[in-house]
Amino acid sequence: MAWVNLIESLRMEAGKYVGRVLVVDDERDITAVLEDVLEGKGYSTIAAHNAQDAIELFAREKFDIVITDLKMPGKSGLDLLAAVKDQNPDTIVIIMTGYATVETAIDALKKGAYDYILKPFKISELLKIVERAFEKILLATENMQLKEQVALLELSEAVSSSLSLNDILLMVVKAAQRELDADGIELLFRQPGSSEFARRVSAGICASKERFVANTALLEAKVRESNAVQWRGDELTTILNGGAPQLPEGTMLSVPLRRGSELLGVLNAVATSSNRYFLPREEKALFVLGDRAATSIENALLYADLEATFKETIKSLALALEAKDAYTHGHSENVTRLSARTAKEMGCSQDFVETITQAGILHDIGKIGISGAILNKPSKLTPAEHSIIQSHPQMGKRILENISFLGEVVPIVYHHHERFDGSGYPEGLSGEDIPLGARIMQVADTYDAMTSNRPYRNGLSHEAARDEILRCRGTQLDPQCVDAFMRMWEKENAE
Ligand SMILES: [Fe+2]
Repeated sequence: MAWVNLIESLRMEAGKYVGRVLVVDDERDITAVLEDVLEGKGYSTIAAHNAQDAIELFAREKFDIVITDLKMPGKSGLDLLAAVKDQNPDTIVIIMTGYATVETAIDALKKGAYDYILKPFKISELLKIVERAFEKILLATENMQLKEQVALLELSEAVSSSLSLNDILLMVVKAAQRELDADGIELLFRQPGSSEFARRVSAGICASKERFVANTALLEAKVRESNAVQWRGDELTTILNGGAPQLPEGTMLSVPLRRGSELLGVLNAVATSSNRYFLPREEKALFVLGDRAATSIENALLYADLEATFKETIKSLALALEAKDAYTHGHSENVTRLSARTAKEMGCSQDFVETITQAGILHDIGKIGISGAILNKPSKLTPAEHSIIQSHPQMGKRILENISFLGEVVPIVYHHHERFDGSGYPEGLSGEDIPLGARIMQVADTYDAMTSNRPYRNGLSHEAARDEILRCRGTQLDPQCVDAFMRMWEKENAE
């Protein structure tokens, strides 16, 4: 897995853990000896000869241990200690000092130094301290990896259960906020078929704004190049670009959501306090969580593709049915359009309008199992033929009910011939026991059936159909749906 590779690449070289040590002393003899000895023990060691150089080195490179003299020209070892702890509190700092400054050394311990050693010292004594420190680092790394694995396991379980994409991403965001103790998390990702990071899931201070990161083009360009980017100062202001409360003192950490070479999105963690940098282990944790999110998004995109293909197939089936039943040509489309507009007129949600649109296309799909001779019979149907025709809602339900994403559509298809007063079929339901979508569709279906031409009769005028619908208001048809249909029709024809 990618996160294991990342940790390994940072921690291991040629199969062996290599600790990195920064040695700082203005006495070059001392740094030279320490470099030799530590390299000999397998540590990768770099020397600096004043605190300022060391601070700059530390900002650029990662070190596990810093061994520093206390008294140096310019900035002191204490200044270096403060800078190191500010950037990465996990770094071990060992102080070297003469007798004269032993009190300062104790002060350094209080400020987060791991240990101190009095000059002049035996190399073996210093090595003991370094080895002890190094064991502590290894242990902390193992703990961190274990913690990551547990978090990952929990998330894996969530992902493999049947939660929606949004629920999974919300879990990722919440886990990120918890693991990093961040003030806010924002996960941005692409809409299927879009090149923009148009969708997002957020928590903490990021949730209060519609969009936290405004300059997504800059975000994308930087994150594409790296596994972790930390934003501060002007750069942070630029990327937020007025799209969020300004954080002049804060830090934002961004990691990519990648699948192969494709960038699916970005996961951002925000800290508002001035002295907070995200630690290397936090970068890794966020990267791992981002990887989880990427897997879920990829699966959802694949599923959306599959769903779209499936819907197209079903639509083709519905069209095939219309081709077979010459008299109802265009009927499904009309019912769909009129039902969707009535639902909008009633203030139904966009999801509901989408559902009733699907149901409209598919409402007579069950007729596909009925012979064309019966469907197209110009003369009166026999009672037996009539009951065959009346089986089409049942047949439609059987065709559609195993398709999971059509779950909401099936009841509408099944009940579209019920009547408000209970005189319909297949169940004889009445009033609000009939699903709302089916009650809306009954009005649209009745209207379209009356106004369409048939080989044996011409369609009614709108006025005649309207009168007939108003006559059935409250008996066969739901009065609320009739009223909404009439309002919708008036508006449409007034335009
Ligand atoms: Fe029907």
